[in-house]
Amino acid sequence: MSNVVRPQKSRVARAFAAAADSYDDVAILQRQTADEMLDRLDLVKIKPERILDLGSGTGRNISLLQQRYPDARQVAVDIAYSMLLRGRQRYRADQGLRRWLPGRKTPWFIAGDAEQLPLADNSVDLVYANLALQWCELTAAFQEIQRVLRPGGLLMFSTLGPDTLQELRHSWAAVDDYPHINVFLDMHDVAEAMFAAGLTDPVLDSDRHCLLYPDVIAMMRDLQQLGARNVNNGRRRGLTGKHILHRVKAASEQFRVNGQLPATYEVIYGHAWAGEISQQTAGNGDIPISLKQLRRNR
Ligand SMILES: C[S@@+](CC[C@H](N)C(=O)[O-])C[C@H]1O[C@@H](n2cnc3c(N)ncnc32)[C@H](O)[C@@H]1O
Repeated sequence: MSNVVRPQKSRVARAFAAAADSYDDVAILQRQTADEMLDRLDLVKIKPERILDLGSGTGRNISLLQQRYPDARQVAVDIAYSMLLRGRQRYRADQGLRRWLPGRKTPWFIAGDAEQLPLADNSVDLVYANLALQWCELTAAFQEIQRVLRPGGLLMFSTLGPDTLQELRHSWAAVDDYPHINVFLDMHDVAEAMFAAGLTDPVLDSDRHCLLYPDVIAMMRDLQQLGARNVNNGRRRGLTGKHILHRVKAASEQFRVNGQLPATYEVIYGHAWAGEISQQTAGNGDIPISLKQLRRNR
């Protein structure tokens, strides 16, 4: 299948761990997409007992999910330990003394990989994954989500599509042939991965978000503060010299609009339900459900 992207886990974990203190200052897009997903949850009638916030980062969404589903136990899983520590601190600060109220379920913070979830089969009713799955091999992550979801459970997620950071990608392409921006899968590949994992009734759509920067250096600095590093295997090694950055900056000027440099993000939103069976592949390995069927579900 064309959707096999294997990011280097240790590099991803290190980059996000190092960004735990700076992440909230620059996570503008992440807050927007998280809120959009919460709005979408309003339209679904569910009463989850256990919620998995997958790739929970600094934990902003844990309190928001708890407000929405006060009876549920939240489980935060992230590959970066420092992110989880931040999340726990934040939860304690958000809740204050309320967290000791009778019946209040303290969230569990668990270090783990979305592709090998440290959770039992059929143990979760809702998986909420905001801008985390683009760091994973999608089929493996969806298979794990399908495994841990109880029958009737819901996955709600956002991830990034291939037009993401196109300005930066083109600017680097003018300078060298190395991959500088991570590979993001298109909606078709995301849908295929969901079907392959056995998730059912997927609904996907995409939206464009644009962040504005004074220049490409500020854009790259924000990405670093987010922990969003280049994890391509064939990436250029070593430090990037000033003269190279100067050339990237010059190449990026073609994208300037009204004095600002845009960073496009193609956000793919999706949800699906836990399927009965874990593998819906035909005998020949093909996926028997087409994107046409997916569109009909919209
Ligand atoms: C862009 S942040 C999003 C954080 C959070 N969901 C939010 O809305 O702010 C991506 C998070 O996914 C985590 N992550 C990346 N790869 C992961 C994996 N394989 N398993 C679990 N978490 C992962 C990172 O450590 C990071 O905290």
